[in-house]
Amino acid sequence: MIDFEIPEVKNLNRKGFLDFEVDPTLDLVAEINKLKKEKKAIILAHYYQESEIQDVADYIGDSLGLAQKAESTDAEIIVFAGVHFMAETAKMLNPHKKVLLPDLKAGCSLADSCPAPLFKKFKEKYPDHVVVSYINCTAELKTLTDVCCTSSNAEVIINSIPKDKGIIFAPDKNLGAYLQKKTGRNMVIWNGACMVHEIFSHEKITKLKVRHPEAKFIAHPECEAHILDVADFIGSTSQLLKYTKENPAQEFIVATESGILHQMELASPDKLFIPAPPNNTCACNDCPHMKRNTMEKLYLCMKYELPEILLEDWVIEKGKVCIDRMLEVSVAAGFKA
Ligand code: 13P
Ligand code: SF4
Repeated sequence: MIDFEIPEVKNLNRKGFLDFEVDPTLDLVAEINKLKKEKKAIILAHYYQESEIQDVADYIGDSLGLAQKAESTDAEIIVFAGVHFMAETAKMLNPHKKVLLPDLKAGCSLADSCPAPLFKKFKEKYPDHVVVSYINCTAELKTLTDVCCTSSNAEVIINSIPKDKGIIFAPDKNLGAYLQKKTGRNMVIWNGACMVHEIFSHEKITKLKVRHPEAKFIAHPECEAHILDVADFIGSTSQLLKYTKENPAQEFIVATESGILHQMELASPDKLFIPAPPNNTCACNDCPHMKRNTMEKLYLCMKYELPEILLEDWVIEKGKVCIDRMLEVSVAAGFKA
């Protein structure tokens, strides 16, 4: 391990992570566990992280579970093995704690599809509407939001809004359309999407279903409507995982990011999990943002306590309101991490 002085961290600005060489013989799991204890740190990982990162995490969950865990932890440092908006949410919930993200460039195409200045103008056209934003959005967008939601609690959040109120939903048009159908609420929907969930091929899924007639086809609500229309079950990552544990079927075709298959296989080792095929031959159902985090980057980030998520005070103060509202409604509805 080459122990660079912190001034070398200028590399970080360009690359988004500590680009130091790590001794390939180092037992990264042991080192990370040691650092966790030494620094009273907790590793929160999303289901889309690579398997090794999930295995070393203290908590693995969906966006809601991760936010709830971030809110309740007494750890001194939160290491977020996920993407930028998730780590920002953890920071907003813990303004006085250090929140680390192994690679600052682990972003999100959905969050990027809704820049706050453009959304501000859009929102001005509907001054009486309540703004509901999917948690997959930037901290700045959260400052323009009344209440956040995740794919686990979205229906509950929409139903908590008085019936006579108009709703703006941002940034995911697919989740928005799904919610519109489920709740019967008329919503003004921002035109954003997730690059991973828009890639599934209806034709290839249909062929796969013919080859596996007993398989259940399960999908995340970020998928397009024509994919959701043929699903046996639709849910957030944690809801999909729960379904595969509880459903007696032995085969599942899974339309979401492939990282979730790790927990599905661990929970039900005798069942077969088939990633739903994308439109082309690339591994597009791997999220390139989620997969920017690696064990090496996780180790370096814990050792040097960098890169750190830093937000302006006004962003934390204003942006946190919609997260707090979401958490309040979620607890009342029985969601817990
Ligand atoms: P959930 O884990 O909350 O279902 O979200 C999926 C996702 O796309 C996160 O980026
Ligand atoms: Fe964003 Fe989609 Fe990746 Fe989730 S899977 S982080 S929504 S790009």
